[in-house]
Amino acid sequence: MGDFEIPWVEKYRPQVLEDVVGNERAIQQLNSIALQGNMPNLLLVGPPGCGKTTSIWCLARQMLGDSVKQGVCELNASDERGIEVVREKIKAFAQQKVNVPPNMHKVIILDEADSMTASAQQALRMIMTDYTNTTRFALACNDSSKIIEAIQSRCAILRFTRLNDAEVLQRLLRITDQESVTYDDKGMEALVFTAEGDMRNAINNLQATVSAFNVVNFENVFRVCDQPHPDLLKSVIQKCTEGQFTTAADSLQVLWIQGYSPLDIIGSLYRVVTNFSMNEHMQLRYLKEIAVLRMRMLDGVCTLLQVHGCLAKLCEISLCQS
Ligand SMILES: Nc1ncnc2c1ncn2[C@@H]1O[C@H](COP(=O)(O)OP(=O)(O)OP(=O)(O)O)[C@@H](O)[C@H]1O
Ligand SMILES: [Mg+2]
Repeated sequence: MGDFEIPWVEKYRPQVLEDVVGNERAIQQLNSIALQGNMPNLLLVGPPGCGKTTSIWCLARQMLGDSVKQGVCELNASDERGIEVVREKIKAFAQQKVNVPPNMHKVIILDEADSMTASAQQALRMIMTDYTNTTRFALACNDSSKIIEAIQSRCAILRFTRLNDAEVLQRLLRITDQESVTYDDKGMEALVFTAEGDMRNAINNLQATVSAFNVVNFENVFRVCDQPHPDLLKSVIQKCTEGQFTTAADSLQVLWIQGYSPLDIIGSLYRVVTNFSMNEHMQLRYLKEIAVLRMRMLDGVCTLLQVHGCLAKLCEISLCQS
């Protein structure tokens, strides 16, 4: 069994762009930047754990070679309260003398840029312009609508998406192989299912399952992930498609008793329906119902009654369909 000193997310973090899974278009763009040098300011947008920070480091490593250590400064925008700290750090770094290969620039990585206030972003925009001769910025964020226009227009925007199930699985299998992990297919499927395209989440849950139970199988993964059991939810949906409200509601009650919140339940229900093989038209209506319910719950009406109401609606849809 492998060592547990280094978290696997770090141990298996890709070091070169070639090794980054998925998001081919963005990676290809980064690759051509690496070849030409003269990196533009970049804004990487996408959901958590899909490789944004990793890709920037790969790019920097490919551009700067041995000087990557001195040539890159990583700041976490949300750590620092005001822009002042960021400004001082950036200034100090931008003025530092570092030997980088010809045509290349020093790189400042600013993670979680969307958590900066608008005024901090205004200040950042000036800084970006001031040091453009020596220093380029790579900003990463989950939500580009929180980045002011003035910054967006100074950056080449690269969009990342969630990784698909095959991509996550492929990566996990490589790790299980290297770490000689005992697993079965259902267990791996469960890891992929719960990760929802977030590779960090998938790898962390893999390691957590291995360190707690040694074997990666369906049961163990769900013990670690603490999510409602999808088999149970599948049976709930099955009952709904047969129009059997009472049985569906009874099964669902089990999750309630186990302590899951209506929001947990409905989130998992959504994913189960997405993967459920059923009449497509009906599936879309199911998803719509669940999505509307989720929205209401986020508005504050988060009770079991709402979930039951939703099940009733799903049953009704099936009964009308047949
Ligand atoms: N596309 C990928 N290919 C291979 N491994 C990946 C990929 N994306 C993420 N990982 C794994 O997940 C870890 C976290 O990835 P990374 O820090 O790049 O995510 P991120 O997109 O920056 O997320 P966040 O928005 O939370 O900052 C990496 O250390 C790596 O092990
Ligand atoms: Mg990141």
